Amino acid sequence: MKFYIDTANVDEIREAAGLGLLDGVTTNPSLMAREAGRGKTFHQILAEICELVDGPISAEAVSMDFGGLMKEGRELVSIHKNIVVKVPITIDGLKAVKALKEEGIRTNVTLVFSPMQALLAAKAGAFLLSPFVGRLDDVSHNGMETVAQIVQIYRNYNFDTQVLVASVRHPIHVLEAATMGADVVTMPFKVISQLVKHPLTDVGIERFLKDWEKVKK
Ligand code: E4P
Repeated sequence: MKFYIDTANVDEIREAAGLGLLDGVTTNPSLMAREAGRGKTFHQILAEICELVDGPISAEAVSMDFGGLMKEGRELVSIHKNIVVKVPITIDGLKAVKALKEEGIRTNVTLVFSPMQALLAAKAGAFLLSPFVGRLDDVSHNGMETVAQIVQIYRNYNFDTQVLVASVRHPIHVLEAATMGADVVTMPFKVISQLVKHPLTDVGIERFLKDWEKVKK
């Protein structure tokens, strides 16, 4: 299972990359907006992220029409070869996913909330597919049930599109993604840190260190 970090903050990305477990990065316009005002352009931030992590780096296109998405997609991949163009699931978005693929440009179809949207994105040739589980949970739909259906559909037809579980809020999302065989999970830095922690590990370390003091005497 691949681990991506869901942030545009280069300090967090550097720290997570230091763990040696990071396979990629996802950003979106809201995450980019949090970094605005630090004296760097959107393109500079992306270039810096690409230097920190040698894997797919998702950057979102914001055009709503086919022509605009194509133009933005080409511009984004000119920043670095590892950029994957995030395209929202719309009619023009699907057309752009197919056309960008024909040009050798990888896409991440985003803002996905249903298995049928996922089926269309795979048929269009998406490289990654981002179902937003936390936002589904927020409106009383079980986000991970939707992911399970998507994983099953992709298996049934051997689609190459990778399921990237997004909008992850806590470790249980990661656990369920792993048990159902999702390809990738993108997490905020906080969730990556939570995966390491267990109270019994803390208690165990404390006890061992205390007992070791007796051995040393
Ligand atoms: C995914 O690529 C998105 O950037 C992200 O996971 C959205 O998460 P949110 O629902 O916490 O904003």
